[in-house]
Amino acid sequence: MEKTALLLAAAALLAVGCQCKQEPTATTAETVMANILQRKSVRSYTADTIPSQVMENLLRAAMAAPSGRNLQPWSFIVLTDKSRYDSIFAGNFNLPMFKASAAIVVVCADTMAMMSPRDNRDAAPSLQPNYLWRDDMGAVTENLLLAAEAHGLGACWTACYPYPDRMEPVRNSLEIPATVVPYCVVPIGYPAGDNQPKDKWDPNRIHYNRW
Ligand SMILES: Cc1cc2nc3c(=O)[nH]c(=O)nc-3n(C[C@H](O)[C@H](O)[C@H](O)COP(=O)(O)O)c2cc1C
Repeated sequence: MEKTALLLAAAALLAVGCQCKQEPTATTAETVMANILQRKSVRSYTADTIPSQVMENLLRAAMAAPSGRNLQPWSFIVLTDKSRYDSIFAGNFNLPMFKASAAIVVVCADTMAMMSPRDNRDAAPSLQPNYLWRDDMGAVTENLLLAAEAHGLGACWTACYPYPDRMEPVRNSLEIPATVVPYCVVPIGYPAGDNQPKDKWDPNRIHYNRW
């Protein structure tokens, strides 16, 4: 009898534990999935401006990205002064798209970081090349795009790195330090016209347990 009572008590405790556990609800999953699947490059915008709180949300989402050794090598330059765009984007950029956008976020990467060498983590930190910055910047940029989509905004990831003709005018005009790379440029605005996501689902790209 005592054993049965103990088992029942353990089962009750487990049941309570299950109720407390924060499982993602189907609604949350559906919302997040819909946002990811709805994201698309948007290159036409209305004249509406972006509220500063919304822009802060986008940058908050961007900065939540993962990064190698958690070095968070990113910085952002938010541009709204279109009178400067001709010189900043004197390289081979889509200037009409940029001028139509409400704001442009220049996503920058610090290629150096204070850290100990990988093979001797006990060594005193010193300024070292961060070889993972490119990977980190992809994550941060995608977060920015997804947050834009979530706020009903349209955005377009526009390469800056590795093209010298794009990077140099941006670097010089915005006084970006030598160890910092203007990685990409993201025009953002409320979408105009018909913008549809592409269906990229391809089960043939998936391999199970071996190639
Ligand atoms: C690394 C990278 C660089 C890109 N550079 C440009 C660019 O210079 N100009 C542009 O119009 N779009 C650029 N794009 C956007 C792609 O053209 C776009 O993501 C692709 O066509 C897929 O369309 P989707 O974003 O609507 O899914 C870039 C995207 C990535 C990831």
